[in-house]
This record gives sequence, structure tokens and C-alpha cells, in this order.
Amino acid sequence: MAILVTGGAGYIGSHTVVELLNTGYDVIVLDNFVNSNPEALNRIQQITGKEITFYKVNLLDKKSLTEIFAENQIEAVIHFAGLKAVGESVEKPLYYYQNNISGTLVLSKVMKEFGVKKMVFSSSATVYGTADSVPLNEDTPLGATNPYGWSKLMLEQIFKDLYVSDNEWSIALLRYFNPVGAHESGLIGENPNGIPNNLTPYITQVAVGKLDKLRVFGNDYDTKDGTGVRDYIHVVDLAKGHLKALDKVLTNNLVDAYNLGTGEGYSVLDIIKTFEKVTELNIPYEITERRAGDIAVSYADPTKAKQELEWKAERSLEDMLRDSWNWQQKNKNGYEN
Ligand code: WQD
Repeated sequence: MAILVTGGAGYIGSHTVVELLNTGYDVIVLDNFVNSNPEALNRIQQITGKEITFYKVNLLDKKSLTEIFAENQIEAVIHFAGLKAVGESVEKPLYYYQNNISGTLVLSKVMKEFGVKKMVFSSSATVYGTADSVPLNEDTPLGATNPYGWSKLMLEQIFKDLYVSDNEWSIALLRYFNPVGAHESGLIGENPNGIPNNLTPYITQVAVGKLDKLRVFGNDYDTKDGTGVRDYIHVVDLAKGHLKALDKVLTNNLVDAYNLGTGEGYSVLDIIKTFEKVTELNIPYEITERRAGDIAVSYADPTKAKQELEWKAERSLEDMLRDSWNWQQKNKNGYEN
């Protein structure tokens, strides 16, 4: 029996595939490379010494998806494939809804046809919208502020409805906070297309000389130093959380949400100072206007995942930033090297 990983060549997907292979699972990766690079699959095989069955397929291609399920004994699906740029989703809502929602509906229909009803789903803390009651727990009222966030929130609802219709389904909805870092080997890591939207890949590109300075989006928030506070979590901790969630759905029938965060909030200036400390590099920055849509503070209450998944983040902020730099230093142009 194998685990199908959609989006398995992506940032969190590739780190999760490493953990699955190291744990002894057979893995099938499905990816269309719209937001990833096939080189990541070579690097995974280099890290683990194990083979991966791979298909280049778009989730909207029901015929190909059906063939994959017919050709393989799939026990469960870890579903990462989806578009995730908040700003782009505002510019291209139909593209986001078609890719994220319709693609997932096609996947779910094919899973049902083959009696595969176990899934770990890549959701996001973005479903908490502008909730300002921190720490955020899974009972915090949900809301979205952009098509990307709505697509995740709608899919969570679709899975809950699916379970009501047939409680043989078992789906873990994993709400990620801010994934950061890279595998200790520096062979796989975050490989954004174009100019990074997210903070830490932007910082590492400044450090490696690809960008000249960081813009800090506002220092007038109601936080200790005025800059935005977030719950940064090491991508390897996040990957290990997926294996715990997989254990849960394989041995239970449920649809439930779990925060995958550390429970610690760090400001933008904390990130800059810690990065400079672990790398002994200087990161030039300027304070600019706030970024539209940003909230001041977001960090998790990770209690439920600890109690119900027996999972807890273990890596420190220094580990995250050291590993981010190690990846960037070894791969100045990401997988394009
Ligand atoms: C972090 C902090 C910025 C860039 C996003 C998505 C979310 C999830 C994770 C998918 C904020 C500040 C950033 C920069 C800056 N993705 N910042 N200068 O916005 O918390 O979350 O990524 O699920 O859905 O919204 O992450 O890394 O963009 O920002 O000052 O160049 O860094 O204002 O305070 P964010 P981020």
C-alpha cells in the first residue's frame, strides 16, 4: 500500500515525502510543477536513497488521476497541491478557485470511486482571518480575507460535509502557521517563483546578494516593537506533524482541524536580529508602509495537536533560520542552479 502525495515536489510536500520514505512508507508523488521543480524529487532520492513513483499530472485531469488510482494500491492521500499566494489570489480569483477547489473535488471523487477515504489536508492559519484573539485555537471563529483563504475555508467545509454524508471518510485538516527553514542537508528548501512574498526567503535572498534590502511592512502595529508578530514553525517539524496526522486518520474515522504551530510569536525585527546572529551577516532593511491585508499578531495554541496527534514542534527559531540560510547558501538560485 502506498501514500499518494499531491504537490509532493513543493516546499512542505518535499519535506514530508522525505519523512514518509525514512519511516518506510511507499510514496507516489503527483505534481504539475506550476509552483515546484522536478529537481526536488532528485534531491529527495539523494537524501533518502529511496525511489519515488512520480506522475506529472494536473488534478483537474480526471482521466489521468483515475489511471493513477487504478495502477497503484493507494492507502491514503496527503493533499498539498494548491496555489498559495495571497496577493495573486486577489488578482486571479477564478484561477485560484478552479485550481484549489475544483482540483480537490476531482481528487475527492476519484478517491471515493476507489474507496480511498483517508486524507491529510493542507489547510492554513489563514482560515482564522482577522481574528485578534491570540493564541488562536481550533475553536476560534473562522473567516477569510482573500480568495486563497476562502478556498481553504471552503474546502474544510466540503470535507466536513463529506464526512456527514459518509463517515467512513477520515480527514485531518492541518492549519499551518508560518513554515520556515529547510532539511539539514541543504538539498531541499523553499524555492519561491520570482520575488518572494514571504519574509524569510526574502531575507535569505538579501543575504545571498540577490536582493539589496528588506522592506519591513510597517512598525506601527500594537506589538512590542511595532512590527508584525507571527508563529514561525520549522518545515521539518511541520512535515513530522503530517505523519502523526496520517497515523490518526489511518486508525480513526473523523474530520477534524489541528493547528500546526509552535505557540511562540516572533516579530519581524526578532527574525532579522536572530538571522544576523546565527549567520553573522548584516541584513539591511527599511521601514515602509503596512502591507494591505496584514494582521498585527498571529500565533497558535498548539495544545490540540499535542494531545490528539502526540505532536509538538521541537526546533528553535535559530534552527529555522540557520537551516534556511544553509539551503540558500548552497542553492543561490534555488533548484535552478
Ligand atoms: C510575515 C511577516 C509581514 C515580507 C503568509 C500567508 C499565509 C501563509 C504563510 C499559506 C508579516 C512581514 C513579510 C516582507 C515584511 N501562506 N513581511 N517584509 O503574511 O504571515 O502569511 O504566508 O498558507 O496564508 O498569508 O507571512 O512571511 O508574508 O509575512 O515585513 O518582505 O513579515 O508584514 O508581519 P504571512 P509573510
